[in-house]
Amino acid sequence: MGRAISRCGTRGAPARLASALGYAVSPGGARIRPTILLAVASACGEDRPEIGDAAATALELIHCASLVHDDLPCFDNADIRRGKPSVHRAYSQPIAVLTGDSLIILAFEELARIAEIDAARSARLVLALARRTGMPGGICAGQGWESEEEIDLEAYHNAKTAALFVAATQMGAIAAGQEPGPWAELGARIGAAFQIADDLRDTLCDADTLGKPPGQDDLNGRPNAVARYGVQGAMSKLKDSLGGAIASIPSCPGEAMLAQMVQRYAERLTPSAPMPRRTVPGE
Ligand code: IPE
Ligand code: IPE
Ligand code: MG
Ligand code: MG
Repeated sequence: MGRAISRCGTRGAPARLASALGYAVSPGGARIRPTILLAVASACGEDRPEIGDAAATALELIHCASLVHDDLPCFDNADIRRGKPSVHRAYSQPIAVLTGDSLIILAFEELARIAEIDAARSARLVLALARRTGMPGGICAGQGWESEEEIDLEAYHNAKTAALFVAATQMGAIAAGQEPGPWAELGARIGAAFQIADDLRDTLCDADTLGKPPGQDDLNGRPNAVARYGVQGAMSKLKDSLGGAIASIPSCPGEAMLAQMVQRYAERLTPSAPMPRRTVPGE
């Protein structure tokens, strides 16, 4: 990731935009998507780790871009991200728009560079990431739902969040030279659970815990799992999604290792009693 970003800081490039690219990706967040991608690649017995590394970088670049755009005033209007001012607050709105755009393009450049090693895997990775980033089923579709009068919560969550988790599992398989089809369900299940957990934290946690402003979903009138199902209902949806995740792992050399990883994520994602609480209306 640092290598891709550092290519942008060359002499003759606009310095503020180059600086904003670094600001948007480091220090990073939990890096859950590239971690899943690399775990799947390894479980599939990858033969060229540099392909998995490039795919993981590309996926995290897209994720970081999505956060920069998501925080803009025309979307969630959030001042804080990862415990520091969001990019448009630290720099400016034009710089934030261009930062998101540049990160997206860098991601695809990273995948195109793999063609020198394996042209077929490069093309498949580009396609897999494009499908989960754009329209009709990627992040653009997810953010697009927010401009509809009626929002289908499941379609909204699937596109804005689960899509990148499907990209993570499928790109891991492709990086290792395997077929992506059987890996979609695992990504979809982890991704659906992840957004429900995020909705729960948005309601239940404070800004220090989150590193981003809480209560955003209600403030922005976004449909969310807590508003739809209540805290307990959202918890049980989260458990349902994760419950089938381990069973959905395709058979592969690292199946047991992946099952352990999913189990660890399941424990981490499920909000537990000591979670700092804010007042929940109606509870
Ligand atoms: C935040 O994702 C956006 C959602 C899809 C809820 P993460 O919680 O993975 O963000 P970082 O990368 O760790 O900051
Ligand atoms: C995240 O949605 C999905 C993106 C496309 C960035 P949210 O708006 O719920 O994520 P946070 O809470 O700002 O991280
Ligand atoms: Mg949003
Ligand atoms: Mg947001």
